[in-house]
Amino acid sequence: MNLLLLLAGLVLQIATKQAYALNTTYNNPILPGWHSDPSCTFVSEWNNTFFCTTSSFLAFPGCPVFASTDLVHWDLISNALSRPAQLPQIQTSTNAQTLGIFASTLRFRDGTFYLITAWLDTDNDGVQIVLFTTTNPYDENSWTNAFQIQNPLSAIDPDIFWDDDGNVIMAYSGSPIKASYIDLATGNAGEPFDLWNGTGYNYQEGPHLYKKDGYYYLLIAEGGTELHHSSTIARSKSIKGPWESSPHNPLASARYTDRYFQTVGHSDLFQDAAGNWWGVALATRAGPVLYNETIYPMGRESVLYPVSWPKGDWPVADPVMGEMSGPLPPKSSKKSSVPTFMGEPDIVDFVPGSSIPKHWVFWRAPAKPESFTISPPGHPNTLRLTASKANLTGDASFKALDGLTLLARRQTNTLFEFSVDVHPGFYKTQGDEIGVTAFLHQDHHIDLGIVFMGGSPHSKGTLSFRCRATDSDATNFTVPSPVVTPVPSSWLSETIRLYIRAENSTHYQLSAAPAAWPHDSRLLATFTGALISGPDVFTGNLLGVYATTNGGNQTMQGYVSRWRYTPVAQQIDYDDFVRSRGL
Ligand SMILES: *[C@@H]1O[C@H](CO)[C@@H](O)[C@H](O)[C@H]1NC(C)=O
Ligand SMILES: *[C@@H]1O[C@H](CO)[C@@H](O)[C@H](O)[C@H]1NC(C)=O
Ligand SMILES: *[C@@H]1O[C@H](CO)[C@@H](O)[C@H](O)[C@H]1NC(C)=O
Ligand SMILES: *[C@@H]1O[C@H](CO)[C@@H](O)[C@H](O)[C@H]1NC(C)=O
Ligand SMILES: *[C@@H]1O[C@H](CO)[C@@H](O)[C@H](O)[C@H]1NC(C)=O
Ligand SMILES: *[C@@H]1O[C@H](CO)[C@@H](O)[C@H](O)[C@H]1NC(C)=O
Ligand SMILES: *[C@@H]1O[C@H](CO)[C@@H](O)[C@H](O)[C@H]1NC(C)=O
Ligand SMILES: *[C@@H]1O[C@H](CO)[C@@H](O)[C@H](O)[C@H]1NC(C)=O
Repeated sequence: MNLLLLLAGLVLQIATKQAYALNTTYNNPILPGWHSDPSCTFVSEWNNTFFCTTSSFLAFPGCPVFASTDLVHWDLISNALSRPAQLPQIQTSTNAQTLGIFASTLRFRDGTFYLITAWLDTDNDGVQIVLFTTTNPYDENSWTNAFQIQNPLSAIDPDIFWDDDGNVIMAYSGSPIKASYIDLATGNAGEPFDLWNGTGYNYQEGPHLYKKDGYYYLLIAEGGTELHHSSTIARSKSIKGPWESSPHNPLASARYTDRYFQTVGHSDLFQDAAGNWWGVALATRAGPVLYNETIYPMGRESVLYPVSWPKGDWPVADPVMGEMSGPLPPKSSKKSSVPTFMGEPDIVDFVPGSSIPKHWVFWRAPAKPESFTISPPGHPNTLRLTASKANLTGDASFKALDGLTLLARRQTNTLFEFSVDVHPGFYKTQGDEIGVTAFLHQDHHIDLGIVFMGGSPHSKGTLSFRCRATDSDATNFTVPSPVVTPVPSSWLSETIRLYIRAENSTHYQLSAAPAAWPHDSRLLATFTGALISGPDVFTGNLLGVYATTNGGNQTMQGYVSRWRYTPVAQQIDYDDFVRSRGL
């Protein structure tokens, strides 16, 4: 062979290899903390950006949308559901806990972003399928109101897929997985038809359709969202089948392994600008003893894995680990136009004119938005809380419209410190309480409150710290009794700093200090994270502030300030803690 040709061939080979196989390492989870059921899509038209959404259940704002150009640094760019008017039921019809926005699919088509999802509430009108769209996902207010799509079988986990002929197909959960043609102008759905049964596990759900090399590919979740969870894939030349199961199934799963990242499943697949394929899935950290020891407070998080998918062949995925390697896009050099949230600390001082950060959530759209006021006249750099009558649990008659005065953010690091200052003098009547909480939902939370107890015309009453845990389904252990400690008399006129910190991966410490002398902090109680973990809970830990009159009819207002969330470390394997930046 001609030497020159040989050399040219070599150069070409090297150049091709460099374009596709320069691997770098990254850590999972990519969206740490409670971010379940990720659905992601790559949009070359928007500066080669990856966009993802995750399930939000009753957290409001909901349907968070994240963007990244390097798959490692993620910004929360908007919440597709940020105005109660978009879906008024989130304020009125959500009396129970495991309701709201279930798993969604995010896609881009002809300049428009589509977020299709299932909505569950207590109106007994079945599961609704709703669609939000926008032409600019960076503009939160541009997301449309929920547009209802018919849901012939009251299914969950809708997908949205455009066939080559322009027809729109919505696949959804079912045994077997089913689909309907849908009309995006009217919201009508056609007769359901069967797709694929999966590989023999239960709970076939979370379908996504793709078309590649002349095949329809159907990716689904199987085995339930716990230890048997998986993502499996099948293909067919026709949307009506027959479907052939991949010889490499499950595509992604951690079942029957002792990996630290468990429950891997509910995936989505997408291709980057260089042509590499990637998968996202949900996973839970803690290893296979997870449901035995019941400590996984961050719940289901989003992970990323490289996928090799040669032309005409089946996709094969790398197993999900804490440290991964793959042909990532170049690191983003540009500072994004919005504040980065993933991995960053919260340093929030409620400066006048500011608004509540995008990544903070209420539990349901607040029934009384005026219960949360930043820097009201005469109280700069504070957040004024107007107490809800219900405590964080509520009693049997609790209704969504009664409202909960709770504002929180996700726990996004295994080890962290969260603190908020509570201003003195808020209490007048028995039951008045302001505190911080580690909150999974109303039946699973750990609270550290400053509460006014006693108090009548005849007695002055006492102000106490009360550490109290609520866990409605603690079957494997006893819920600890409340720990009540009088506030030291020398602190009574002081601003008091309340802390929740993860002492280690399994235990939370509750403590308090005078804000002026934080070194004088007192440890009040230690609680196990099992209280805020649960196999039947779909959410993950939120850290926040609350105010309640504990059933009293009085109006109580109090002020909090200096909100801090400091990441300390991320556990990515049994013995591997990654320290957070700047520590
Ligand atoms: C990204 O793309 C959009 C849509 O094409 C454009 O409006 C925007 O200016 C671009 N942003 C950057 C930072 O390049
Ligand atoms: C799926 O499985 C069920 C029972 O397990 C069976 O009745 C049905 O025919 C199967 N459907 C398909 C499309 O394979
Ligand atoms: C689960 O807990 C039981 C008793 O509480 C223990 O006997 C068993 O070994 C544990 N299993 C694992 C996998 O840790
Ligand atoms: C209690 O532990 C068992 C295993 O020992 C597990 O199957 C079950 O889900 C646990 N229950 C709760 C509520 O965590
Ligand atoms: C890069 O990572 C991918 C995904 O793990 C793997 O398939 C490929 O072999 C790696 N390339 C090199 C040069 O190591
Ligand atoms: C909340 O209020 C209910 C009903 O008044 C009461 O039973 C429960 O103990 C309280 N729980 C907490 C954590 O405040
Ligand atoms: C965390 O600390 C508690 C003591 O507060 C201890 O009982 C527990 O074993 C520790 N857990 C780990 C994983 O070190
Ligand atoms: C609060 O008001 C309700 C309705 O007016 C009344 O039934 C209840 O007894 C009052 N509770 C207290 C503690 O005063």
